[in-house]
Amino acid sequence: MEIQEIIALIQETKVFVANRERAGHIKTKGRADYVTQVDTDIQNFLARELGNRFPGIQFLGEEEGLHEMSGDIYWILDPIDGTTNLIHDYQHSVVSLALYEKGEITLGIIYDPFREDVYYAQKGQGSFLNGNPIHVSDAETLDETIISVGTSPYDRELAEENFRRIQRVFGKAQDIRRTGTAAMDLAYVACGRTGGFFEPRLSPWDFAAGLLLVQEAGGRVTDFAGEPLVFSRRGSVVASNGMIHEELRGEL
Ligand code: IPD
Ligand code: CA
Ligand code: CA
Repeated sequence: MEIQEIIALIQETKVFVANRERAGHIKTKGRADYVTQVDTDIQNFLARELGNRFPGIQFLGEEEGLHEMSGDIYWILDPIDGTTNLIHDYQHSVVSLALYEKGEITLGIIYDPFREDVYYAQKGQGSFLNGNPIHVSDAETLDETIISVGTSPYDRELAEENFRRIQRVFGKAQDIRRTGTAAMDLAYVACGRTGGFFEPRLSPWDFAAGLLLVQEAGGRVTDFAGEPLVFSRRGSVVASNGMIHEELRGEL
């Protein structure tokens, strides 16, 4: 599989993201949970194009929801991670595509159409940003770094406990950040802009590509209990440069 071919395909989604008219066609999926016509356009485009090129590989996309995947190999797509940002033209949204093979992620691509940045990784081959190798930060303690946080906005019952976690981490780190896109948060951990990231509930399409990017850049990704992530259900996610992982997890 030629990763550059898939990257070129994902870069074609820029035209969909740029369409402000389609971003205004909004449907509500749940509390503060929306889908726009841009999300659907991108998912339809990539499902069709990937299906034509790789007919043997199944497809799991956010806009068709979580369901049992039967095969050993499938794509995991979040067509727009950061839909609320997109609606408000906040310019922080990415396309996140991963390839799942027999229990692990073997390829991950996160495309930021606003900065035209492509983050990508293949298992065992390192992580890259626009063709240049990237590495996690060298911070040894929380007070040497900034941490991005997720609020799990569709699960408001998690908020009280999570804002206590955020306050504890804020007390130890240099500062905290909130981007509104978990996939971008993971890409930023991979390239060392932040030392870590956590969110109490994410779906596989939010974290699949970013997980490989962080790992291949030398970092670590687990759930809050320190266990490996599972690609068939929602769960908590904490990512870091590895060195501060246990200190960060200790505050969660
Ligand atoms: C959301 C974003 C957000 C995170 C939510 C995700 P969506 O994805 O990643 O940063 O806080 O938990 O669901 O809905 O924009 O694809
Ligand atoms: Ca998402
Ligand atoms: Ca999405």
